[in-house]
Amino acid sequence: MDTHRLRLGDRSYPIYVGIDIAENAGRLLKNRGVTAPPILVSEYRIMRLHGQRLLQALEREFGSVPVIRIKAGESSKSQSGLQKLYDRLFRLGADRTSCLLAFGGGVITDLTGFAAATFMRGIRYASIPTTLLAQVDSSIGGKVGINVLQGKNLIGAFHHPIAVLSDVSWLDTLDDRELASGIYEVIKCGAIKSQRLLRRIDEDLQDLLDRRCGALQTIVSWACRIKADVVAADEREQEFRMILNFGHTIGHALEAATGYRRFTHGEAVAWGMLAALSLGTELNLLAPLKARRLENLIRRVGSLPTLRGIETGEVWASLLRDKKIRGGKIRMVFLSRLGRAEVHPDIDAKHLKSFLGRFLLSSS
Ligand SMILES: NC(=O)c1ccc[n+]([C@@H]2O[C@H](COP(=O)([O-])OP(=O)(O)OC[C@H]3O[C@@H](n4cnc5c(N)ncnc54)[C@H](O)[C@@H]3O)[C@@H](O)[C@H]2O)c1
Repeated sequence: MDTHRLRLGDRSYPIYVGIDIAENAGRLLKNRGVTAPPILVSEYRIMRLHGQRLLQALEREFGSVPVIRIKAGESSKSQSGLQKLYDRLFRLGADRTSCLLAFGGGVITDLTGFAAATFMRGIRYASIPTTLLAQVDSSIGGKVGINVLQGKNLIGAFHHPIAVLSDVSWLDTLDDRELASGIYEVIKCGAIKSQRLLRRIDEDLQDLLDRRCGALQTIVSWACRIKADVVAADEREQEFRMILNFGHTIGHALEAATGYRRFTHGEAVAWGMLAALSLGTELNLLAPLKARRLENLIRRVGSLPTLRGIETGEVWASLLRDKKIRGGKIRMVFLSRLGRAEVHPDIDAKHLKSFLGRFLLSSS
């Protein structure tokens, strides 16, 4: 088992990564000060696939553990989904001393984390992520929230878990697209912070796609360390944490312009990274050879859903809902080399729009 630490003074917390996390979950939570039975929040499907091993380990330490099962999918990460979760918590008699366990992908960790941030003005929770994307990204850093009519993730909070427990053996049942989606986020971590991680993904790609636990544990650990260090340096995303948004400006806009139906989050980020690489070379911020190396790695992970039929105007409108233009300039993250990202606050909005049109056309 690998142990990392997200250092935030008295709110610091451990991130455990391994293949034996489920069996040790009760003990690890007890070490974090959980004494009464926690409340497990998960999806029906995840409980069916992986719930038993975790529940047995929890019940060995705590006795009977209540489970709240939620319908899979983004629609649960909503005001009505949140209300249902509150209802269940009240019915179980949860109080300020309760601890929630978010056992699932990003939908469950975002929703449960937000419920924990707000229930009785804030209670403890631990993240037990089961998708690669959630293990390397959404469960770390304390951003929790729900979607509302006006947009995705617009209502939320910073509320850190008391621990993150990532068992890579759960990734075995992920479908190919969800696995690839997480690999794109790990590639992003390497792109912004570690050329060595990129090399490792390049060498181990087939093992990762075959879901070999050893290879998965290495990259999950590596990406968690990178994300934890970035978040510790800039918890509230004043500046430095923005480098984690590499590929996200255009990625988010593509997701929104297609109604969150065509791409998984990671696939949209992959397209966003390809666009940022291309624009970065056009603006002479990155050498074309380096951009091509990263592009090849992204493309080797799998085939991305097409950009065909997506209107530039719609992507641009979505981008403007997400990003502010100040004095004709927009803020974006670019690579200066593989393993190093920089925030550029002064990208010409007109140039970006014209680039978008060309990128959509040439990539369709
Ligand atoms: N808080 C953050 O910092 C942050 C960062 C990135 C993304 N997000 C959010 O995360 C969400 C996306 O996360 P996600 O990709 O994990 O989506 P998800 O939670 O919807 O999970 C994807 C699918 O995988 C299934 N699944 C989960 N674990 C499984 C397993 N072990 N085996 C088989 N199937 C499994 C789920 O049932 C679901 O159908 C979005 O809502 C996004 O906004 C949050």
